[in-house]
Amino acid sequence: MAWSRRDLCWFGQADYDLLLFVGDLASYFRDGRSVARSLARLPMPILVMAGNHDGVSLPQLIAEALCHDEWSHRLGCGQSRRCRALERALAPVPLVGYSLHPFHLKQQSLAVLAARPHSMGGPRLSFQRYLTERFGVGSLDESAQRLESLIDQWDGEQLIVLAHNGPSGLGSSGTDIWGCDFRASAGDFGDPDLARAVTYAQNQGKQVIAVVAGHMHHTLRGGGQRSWRVERDGVIYVNAACVPRTVRRAGRRRRHHILLRWDGNRAQVEPVWVE
Ligand SMILES: [Fe+2]
Repeated sequence: MAWSRRDLCWFGQADYDLLLFVGDLASYFRDGRSVARSLARLPMPILVMAGNHDGVSLPQLIAEALCHDEWSHRLGCGQSRRCRALERALAPVPLVGYSLHPFHLKQQSLAVLAARPHSMGGPRLSFQRYLTERFGVGSLDESAQRLESLIDQWDGEQLIVLAHNGPSGLGSSGTDIWGCDFRASAGDFGDPDLARAVTYAQNQGKQVIAVVAGHMHHTLRGGGQRSWRVERDGVIYVNAACVPRTVRRAGRRRRHHILLRWDGNRAQVEPVWVE
């Protein structure tokens, strides 16, 4: 993740109640511990979702991208150790996934449901070995059941869902919010277990305020931009993966994040560019 001392200064003074990070503190050739140590210095409540780059090695990531189950399993032997190292660097900020986080904001209670960690998107459970070892989740069906169980644990009504990749069901063209832009046939690259959990929450009478995720970059392969915001059935879906996050325009460097306002009932989102 593009994160610098200037971000630390800006967010350190920002009047935000809660910061949600959608993951991938690490990149292909750099682990995320230096970013994690910086985030740990921020004064407000923070949740960091584990992305598909976090706590994994590059060979492991390649095996996952190729959907090579045997090599993914073999190369996944170090993921627990790497994730623990990332958690130590991030502490006291939690690296979240399959967890529920209650908050009291705007004189109301809400919970952040942290969905499946390390998702690479699509109809395949990525990093199955680690998810099984750490969470006892070995399939997308078990993942959906785990999320439904967490929803059942929340006595309140209002929920924000934090994920690395967004849910399926929001479009199958390359320009859709979690549509596939890396193959000519396109397709829906959302997480089906997450879509099932959102529907389950609504059927249980919960108000899902927003689903906040990333992973699928706004800038498309081959040109163009994907939708980063969709509202459906009263839920605002936000894809925060503006990559590169830092751009230079008119000689000035600007840094992107997304502001989610919530008045206790409705949510609104807007992009924010900080100079
Ligand atoms: Fe990612």
